[in-house]
Parts: sequence; C-alpha cells; structure tokens
Amino acid sequence: MKDKYRYGIIGTGIPWKEDNATGFGMANPHCTGYKKTGRTNLVSIADVRADHAELFLKRHDEAAVVYSDYHEMLATENLDIVSICTWPHLHAEMAIAACEAGVPAIHCEKPMGITWGECKRIKAAADASGSTLIFNHQRRYLEPFQTAKRLLEEGAIGTLERMEAHCGDMSDWGTHWLDMMFFFNNENPAAWVIGQLDSREELRTFGVWTEGQAVCHFRFNNGVRAMLVTGFEASIGAAIRLTGSEGVMEILWDSPWLRLRNGHQAGWQEFPSEEGIHSFVGIDRACADLIRALDEPGYRPLLTVDHAIQHTEVIFSLFESSRRRGRVDLPLNTEDSALKAMVDAGDIGPGHHA
Ligand SMILES: NC(=O)c1ccc[n+]([C@@H]2O[C@H](COP(=O)([O-])OP(=O)(O)OC[C@H]3O[C@@H](n4cnc5c(N)ncnc54)[C@H](O)[C@@H]3O)[C@@H](O)[C@H]2O)c1
Repeated sequence: MKDKYRYGIIGTGIPWKEDNATGFGMANPHCTGYKKTGRTNLVSIADVRADHAELFLKRHDEAAVVYSDYHEMLATENLDIVSICTWPHLHAEMAIAACEAGVPAIHCEKPMGITWGECKRIKAAADASGSTLIFNHQRRYLEPFQTAKRLLEEGAIGTLERMEAHCGDMSDWGTHWLDMMFFFNNENPAAWVIGQLDSREELRTFGVWTEGQAVCHFRFNNGVRAMLVTGFEASIGAAIRLTGSEGVMEILWDSPWLRLRNGHQAGWQEFPSEEGIHSFVGIDRACADLIRALDEPGYRPLLTVDHAIQHTEVIFSLFESSRRRGRVDLPLNTEDSALKAMVDAGDIGPGHHA
C-alpha cells in the first residue's frame, strides 16, 4: 500500500459536445475520479494528438509528462495505475502492453475489443501478469442497479427467472446491459446464445461497425433466460426487466429509474434515484474500487476482466449465431467478429435489403 499511486492515461480526448471533441473524452471523468480519491498523482499522459494532450493538462490543471508513444510511457514511468481511454480497436494492444509492462492496476474503457480472439488474448495477458484489469462498466456502482440487486437478493421478486433488455446496439450499449444481466445473475456463466441481426445501413460507433437491429436470446447455466433486443425500432417498454417467481422489477430510461411489482402491495412501487442510470459518479466509484484492489491484495473489484469476458462472449456469439444460422453453444470457439466478417465479405450490409 502506498500513500500516493503513480497514475497515467492513454488517450485524453475532449469532453462530449465541446469544440473539436472527437468523442466523449472519457479520460476526463477517469482523471477526475482518481483525483477525488486523493490517492494518485497524475504523472504522465500519452496521446497521438499533442493538442488534445495540452488541452487536457490545462483543463485539469496538471503538469504531467506528455508522450506521443504510449509504449514509451509504459516503459519509462513505472505506473501503478493506467487508464486506457481510446477507441475500441486500440483496447487490446494497449491493455496487453500495459499488462506486459507490469502495470498492477489497469482501467480500460469498454467494450473489451473488436474481435473475440483479441478479447481472449487480453484476459490471458492479465492472467499472466497478475494485473488487476477492469473494464469501465461503471453502471454496476449506480444506485438504481445496486438497489435492484439488493431487492433481488432480499427476495422481492422471488427467484430470478428471466431478464429482458433493450438498447441501441450489441457492442457499444449492449456491453453495459449484458454486463448488468450477469451482475444481477451473480456472474453465472452463459450456456448458449441464439439470435439474428440486421445490418442494412452502415452504422459505426467509435469506428466499430454496429448492427442496426438484433435479437439475442441466451440461457445462463443456472437456468435463467435472457433476451437483449437492440435498435431504435425495438422496445421492451423499459431498459431492463427482471422477472422472478413472485414479481417484476424494471430499470427505466427516466425517473424514477427503478420500479417493482409483487404480491405484497398493489401497483408499482417506485425507488426514485437522484443518480439515475447515466451518472459519471459510477466512474468515481470504479476508480476508488481499483485503488482498493491496490491497497488490499486479493480484493477483487466489481469490474474485473473475468466479469467483462463473460458478457463479451455473448456479444460475439450473437454475431456468430447469425453467421451460422443456428444456436451457439459456449465456449465460443471462433477468433474473429462474425459481424465484421460478414460485412467484409459482402454477405450483409447496405444493398442487401432493398
Ligand atoms: N463507459 C462509458 O459510459 C463510456 C461512454 C462513452 C464512451 N466510452 C468508451 O470510451 C472509449 C473512448 O472514447 P472517447 O469518446 O473518450 O474517445 P475520444 O475520441 O474522446 O478520445 C480518444 C483519445 O484517444 C487519442 N488516441 C487515439 N489514438 C491513440 C494512440 N494510438 N495513442 C494514444 N492516444 C490515442 C485521441 O487522440 C483522443 O484524444 C471508447 O471505447 C468508448 O466506447 C465509454
């Protein structure tokens, strides 16, 4: 345990909607989250855009060393913690390099990666180095999800039987909702995945081709069934719905964010939350949790690579199910992204649904 940990960032960025932003600038809430713990010194940042790096230091009133090559930063700075806040195609090479450089705590943005093979390599690298590698599915720390999990454990809806969720796409938003499903089902592994997708338009999120609409049905080893539907034309009337033997809970897209219906009370019981389901306060808590893992050897934060890889397998299995036109029994034994492979081969994509 150290009083202050040496902290570095790969990929700085400009906050969403500000001038010249290229994305959300997720490094900003990471930096703020670590600063709030009072346990880190930002010693270095790496970005291929010198202008982004310079603005970042000004915004956070910091004087860290700036690198254009993140390999050089990892080799020089003896970091205790590194945040990786670049676009998804860079996560694998950067997370693996951080593991190989021996950084003990790595906080990478979601999603894990853009092929199933590289996600498996990320986990192997973390296992080999012993680094605590977390992926930023920060919603696990937010009030509506924490309250829903507590109510579930208290038996408010009896035994969990089914979960349904809806969001824009599988790999950008879906990575969050699938992560929540595994959270609610106590990280039970999935057994199989079956589904279909439609990709008639070129849609990209952070550079990654995403489907326009999908249906992803899967079963957990403990018998719980789950369904994620994606796309703007799909809906389940909630963000996530948990159905148990004695009631139903819904995470909502708007206030009051969480409601419950069971046999103990007439109508819906609401659980309003100031935080809602999008607040970056979840990132503050993820930062504090990773620091706890450095302080207390053996402590496992809520967002480890072992958690992330379970739901990520469902994403690539859905793509594979569409390619195979059948159910995929896990473990998934492919290396690529079937969605990308089908688009690259011209099997799906613009022009196929005219
Ligand atoms: N957890 C969440 O709620 C959430 C929300 C939005 C975005 N994200 C994720 O965050 C990640 C980053 O997205 P963003 O919106 O912050 O991106 P951004 O475009 O705002 O910032 C990315 C930064 O990385 C830099 N960069 C690019 N290549 C680099 C390299 N080789 N070495 C060093 N720096 C490099 C860019 O110059 C830029 O400054 C994405 O994977 C995205 O999915 C997560």
